[in-house]
Amino acid sequence: MAKLWGGRFQKSAEAWVDEFGASIGFDQQLVLEDIEGSVAHVTMLGAQGILPAEDVAKILEGLAQLKQRAEAGELEFSIANEDIHLNLEKMLIDLIGPVGGKLHTGRSRNDQVATDMHLFLKKRVPEVIGLIENFQKTIVKQAEQHVETIAPGYTHLQRAQPISFAHHLMVYFWQLQRDKERFSESMKRIDILPLGAGAMAGTTFPIDRLKSAELLGFADVYANSMDAVSDRDFIVEFLSNSALLMTHLSRFAEEIIIWSTDEFKFIELDDAFSTGSSIMPQKKNPDMAELIRGKAGRAFGNLMGLLTVLKGTPLTYNKDMQEDKEGMFDTMETVLGSLKIFEGMIRTMLVNTERLHSAVHSDFSNATELADYLATKGMPFREAHEVTGKLVFTCIQKGIYLLDLPLEEMKKESDLIDEDIYEVLAPEAAVRRRNSLGGTGFEQVKIQLAKANELL
Ligand code: ARG
Repeated sequence: MAKLWGGRFQKSAEAWVDEFGASIGFDQQLVLEDIEGSVAHVTMLGAQGILPAEDVAKILEGLAQLKQRAEAGELEFSIANEDIHLNLEKMLIDLIGPVGGKLHTGRSRNDQVATDMHLFLKKRVPEVIGLIENFQKTIVKQAEQHVETIAPGYTHLQRAQPISFAHHLMVYFWQLQRDKERFSESMKRIDILPLGAGAMAGTTFPIDRLKSAELLGFADVYANSMDAVSDRDFIVEFLSNSALLMTHLSRFAEEIIIWSTDEFKFIELDDAFSTGSSIMPQKKNPDMAELIRGKAGRAFGNLMGLLTVLKGTPLTYNKDMQEDKEGMFDTMETVLGSLKIFEGMIRTMLVNTERLHSAVHSDFSNATELADYLATKGMPFREAHEVTGKLVFTCIQKGIYLLDLPLEEMKKESDLIDEDIYEVLAPEAAVRRRNSLGGTGFEQVKIQLAKANELL
């Protein structure tokens, strides 16, 4: 098949070579963005008197038809036409005749493809932001049910101090809040239009780039035509923000997986978000959480992939840049899917409050309370730590916990300990009294939830 750029060539590449160079297999996802960019471009060409009004009208009509057929899924793309840009241009010419060939006046595929990518992210990043916010609302709702649910808090995956379960859940709210901010801030750099940069040096036609930007709803245009066609940092930024989001989701997923085990049993996932085993009838596996944890890998890979593609390319456009697309599409799908699934999983999960309660009553996570108690009574904290450690050791030898230790045993280590120690050692009290700003005390958690609600 004759190439749209075939004039200079004496022979055509064989099909298998074309196939290697073609991007139509994946960049057809940009079909609507490409048409949208063309509509703006040709409208601007008309307004500038670069193309006569009747040509512009014909081209716009042709583009409108192609758009309709694209939305109906009726367009058939061909590898011989390499990519989405040449496929559409060829279809336009087939549809309205040689006048269709005027669309590409003052434009190159180099500024065209960069424009498509900007349009893609301009549309989809707000969807990501919306899904993050939706998930945050669900986290807040679960947390509101569990302000006074006492749970063990961990460091090193060892019991550390008792906490409000809501406090634990809300960690993920704040991580997502920062992710959301990062995506929102990146919109500023997505909102810059490369169109009008031409192949790399601008164009001799009296185009109006600001008019194109206005038509496409962009806040600004790239100030440097070479930068406009060679930069992919707005995609790197999207991939980087997504990788970090997936890190947060993956950590949360890991906790969901641990909490669902028989060993922990802190939560139970809804059947709708779990799967069974083909051999072991008793199994209920947290597959969705595991998949999200696993999918973080491809998000990291896509980020690393694009950074590597870009690092050695001389200015300006190089075909290497065609490799920017699959990773971006893949990460977009991964992030949108993971956020939707996670929201459902958290909305429907059951929290085993009894189990959390009994867990926190059968450990030494109230040991800090005893040390603080002694410190409050004037004992240097280092000494208080030592005394408490000895009492913990005594308990371990006896197979009991601090609350079970008789007062006379405690007094052997320090006279400062009185009957009131038992109230202090109660895990509920340990949580309630951690009322420092941002702490796990019930009052602080309520303040935190109010602050979160204000942000939603
Ligand atoms: N399919 C190409 C890409 O995705 C479009 C730009 C091609 N430009 C060129 N000069 N070969 O990067």
